[in-house]
Amino acid sequence: MNNYLPEKGTPVNELDTPCIIIDLDIAEKNIATLQNNANELGIDVRPHAKTHKSPYWAKKQIAAGAIGVCCAKLAEAEVLTEGGIDNILITNQIIGETKITRLVKLAKKTNIIVAVESEKNINQLSEIAKNNSVKIGVIVEINVGMNRCGVSPEKSVILAQEIENSKSLNFHGIMGYEGHAVAVRDHESRVLETQKAMSVLNDSADKIRSMGINVGLVSASGTGTYSISGKIPGITEVQCGSYIFMDGDYLNVLDEFKSALTVMSTVISKSEDRVVADFGLKSISVDRGIAEIISNEKLQIKKHSEEHTVIESESQEKISLEIGDKIFALPMHGDTTINLHENFYGIRKGKLEEVIPISGRGKFL
Ligand SMILES: Cc1ncc(COP(=O)(O)O)c(C=O)c1O
Repeated sequence: MNNYLPEKGTPVNELDTPCIIIDLDIAEKNIATLQNNANELGIDVRPHAKTHKSPYWAKKQIAAGAIGVCCAKLAEAEVLTEGGIDNILITNQIIGETKITRLVKLAKKTNIIVAVESEKNINQLSEIAKNNSVKIGVIVEINVGMNRCGVSPEKSVILAQEIENSKSLNFHGIMGYEGHAVAVRDHESRVLETQKAMSVLNDSADKIRSMGINVGLVSASGTGTYSISGKIPGITEVQCGSYIFMDGDYLNVLDEFKSALTVMSTVISKSEDRVVADFGLKSISVDRGIAEIISNEKLQIKKHSEEHTVIESESQEKISLEIGDKIFALPMHGDTTINLHENFYGIRKGKLEEVIPISGRGKFL
C-alpha cells in the first residue's frame, strides 16, 4: 500500500501525477496572515478543517494561535481527534442514535462542541450523553440569511433554555454562517450582507442573554467575510477555511491570501492541435468552474473525462509541451478537489518536503 510514495527531496517535476502540490511557504504565510489580522481585530480564530481535512494543518493553525478547529462531519472529528486535536467544533447537526453514540464516545476523549437546531436532536443528545455519563458541548445554529440550516433568534431562545435545562449538555453559545455573503465580489455589497447577517446573530445572542443565559461563543464567517464580521462587536470568533490554500474562485474575491494549491499532471499524449494530461474529474473538481492552467497562460482546458484532460492552445501558436512534461492547474474549488486525493505534496524551494495525509478525505459519515 502506498509504497509508490516519493522520497523527501524529490524535485517537484519528478513527482508522479496527478497530485496536489502545496507551496508550504505560501500556506504557512496564509495561516499567519489570518491569525495576525484576527489578533488585531481582537477576535479568535477557529479555522474550518473541512478545507484541508488533516490533523497536520490543524496543528499548524493551532500553533499559530487558533483556539481549536471546526469540522463538518463526525468522521472528520474522529480523524482529527486521532491525529491529536483536542478542541473541535462540529458545525453541523449530528442526527440519529448511532451517530450520537459515536459522538458521545468521542466526547470522552476530546473537547467537542456540536451544532443543534431542533428539540428532538437536543433531547436525544441529552439522553444518550446522560446514559454514558458524559457532558456534551452544544452551540445553537442560527439562520443568518443563507437559508441552509439554523433557526430564528426567537426559536434560539427556546432551544438555549432546553439545553440549559439538561444536566448532560453544556450551552456554549451560537453560530451563524453567512455563506450567501462570503464570495460576493463587490466589496460594498459583501459588507452590507455580512452586517445584516451579523445583526441577526447578535439579536439572537441578546435575546438569549435577556433570559439570564450566558452566551460565550458567537461564532461566524468565512474567508471572504471575517474581516467585516471581526469588526462587529459581539462576534467572538471566525471559522475561515479556504484561506489556508485559496482557490481560483476565492482569488476573485480578495487578495490578502495567496494561492498555495495546484493540481500537477503529466502530458501523456500529443497531437497537432492538443495535448492530453493525466488528470480528470477524479482528481480535480469542476463544481465552481473549469480550472485554469497556470504553468502556461496560453493553454486552456478543452474538456475533462474521468482520467484525461484535453488541453488546447488559446492562440494559433503550436503547443510546445512534450510528452512527459508537467502542467499545473489552479482548481476553482479547493475543498472538493482536496477531497479527491489521499495526500498533499508539500513543496519548498522546488523540492518535496512533506507528504501530508488527507486523512479526512471521504469521511462523510
Ligand atoms: C459552517 C461553515 N463555517 C465556515 C465556513 C467557511 O469557509 P470558507 O472560509 O471556506 O468560506 C464554511 C464553508 O463552507 C461553513 O460551512
